[in-house]
Amino acid sequence: MSRKIKVSPAQPEVILALDVDTFKEAKHFINKLYPKIKIFKVGIHFFTACGPEIIEFIHKLGAQVFLDLKFFDIPNTVASAVRVAVNLRVKMLTLHILGGQDMLKQAVIAAREEAGRLKVKRPLLIGVTVLTSKKTTSSNVLTLARVGIESGLDGVVCSVKEIPLLRKKIKRIFVTVTPGIRPGRSGHDDQKRVATVKDAVSAGSNFLVIGRPILRAKQPLRAAEELLGDI
Ligand code: C5P
Repeated sequence: MSRKIKVSPAQPEVILALDVDTFKEAKHFINKLYPKIKIFKVGIHFFTACGPEIIEFIHKLGAQVFLDLKFFDIPNTVASAVRVAVNLRVKMLTLHILGGQDMLKQAVIAAREEAGRLKVKRPLLIGVTVLTSKKTTSSNVLTLARVGIESGLDGVVCSVKEIPLLRKKIKRIFVTVTPGIRPGRSGHDDQKRVATVKDAVSAGSNFLVIGRPILRAKQPLRAAEELLGDI
């Protein structure tokens, strides 16, 4: 099933990174933050701890799932994992662009075929360029983003500061997903290429991934409201 990507830079969406240990904690945050936040990111931390059960919980509520397992393996294995993710009805998922063109193209075919078979919307396939916890050059991110988009991915994960270059140099329609969002511009943790919500919005990021600034706040809902207030 082909998929038209809606890109509306005027209305970026915030995704909560559910980086917690237990189902109970995850439910606590989801119940507190939905419907203020409508997309929840299930990554390797929580998925390793609790598996796919949370996906059903999120869907039942009416919210959506970003499955951030950063697939990086041989093409056949990644394609098989993508088929399973389509069955889980996730909104979007990640793969490492460093996995190479064959891996990415097989993933795109698998997503299309499985979604067609099930007659469902296929997930957005999002390529990880360079982790925001690493310092890198914008041209390095551009090289990887090009490989990803030319292989048929729907978008890339990058830092806010790389968006203008990617938009200028890659003439196709694609979505940008930006982690490393912090209340201030200087990082105090493992994230190196950080930016504020305002920066992300003015750069035209489509999805802002936020974890610790909300999860570790004394009042997570208030922290989310403050951050969302800048959109
Ligand atoms: O807590 P924090 O706001 O740093 O969370 C960022 C989230 O985005 C984490 O779950 C991390 O795994 C994810 N992520 C990232 N950098 C990428 C891709 C995903 O930080 N390139």
